[in-house]
Amino acid sequence: MRRNRDRWNHNIHYYDLVADAVPSSARTALDVGTGDGLLATRLARTVPEVTGIDSDAAVIERARRSAADALTTTGASAVSSGAVSWIVGDILTHDLPEAHYDAVVAVATVHHFPDLAVGLRRLAALTAPGGTLVLIGLARSSTLHDRVLDAAGVVEHQVYSRTRGFWQHSAPVQMSLPHTYTEVREIAAAELPGAQWRRLPLWRYALIWKRSRR
Ligand SMILES: C[S@@+](CC[C@H](N)C(=O)[O-])C[C@H]1O[C@@H](n2cnc3c(N)ncnc32)[C@H](O)[C@@H]1O
Repeated sequence: MRRNRDRWNHNIHYYDLVADAVPSSARTALDVGTGDGLLATRLARTVPEVTGIDSDAAVIERARRSAADALTTTGASAVSSGAVSWIVGDILTHDLPEAHYDAVVAVATVHHFPDLAVGLRRLAALTAPGGTLVLIGLARSSTLHDRVLDAAGVVEHQVYSRTRGFWQHSAPVQMSLPHTYTEVREIAAAELPGAQWRRLPLWRYALIWKRSRR
């Protein structure tokens, strides 16, 4: 069986960045659009209560099974000190506790939302006071800077896919990207004031927002 740490793709590449942004004091984390559940399983090594939610029932079933297989194969303590709760549901409407999660993370998910501003507001509302929201997202290039990073992504893809091997996730994808990076950054500035923005290679951006304690 291929172990999680042996897998590489454009989303997994940024799981370290996400995990590093999660406060070490976090007790609760929510992985939005968890897909195959690799990030949720990884966060459960350090966060006691992790929830993975996805609107696709089939991918949640695969996530649940693969997390259970990993526990059986390697022993619970090697994989996770906590447990992941898996939920089939739409993050925009599912009944979840607001202002609860010390970390809300979403990788390659928010471009699926019908309205990005509404989706970001929902993720912000789920984040606990003092908690952190971490997004790795996809958008369309529209500037020279974007295109330079796209070119860097082509090189990185060639190197990593040859040296690490490319693992294709099984989660639903949406090929059409509704916003440019510039538009995402503007919407985020309005909905998540003070968020840190980074344009990344491998056709991604990172947004990190800390909810104030008050
Ligand atoms: C491209 S996949 C990314 C999966 C995973 N985060 C990763 O790192 O590979 C996007 C996922 O978001 C899920 N998704 C899209 N809209 C959603 C929503 N409103 N609520 C919950 N999940 C959603 C899709 O079903 C899909 O599994």
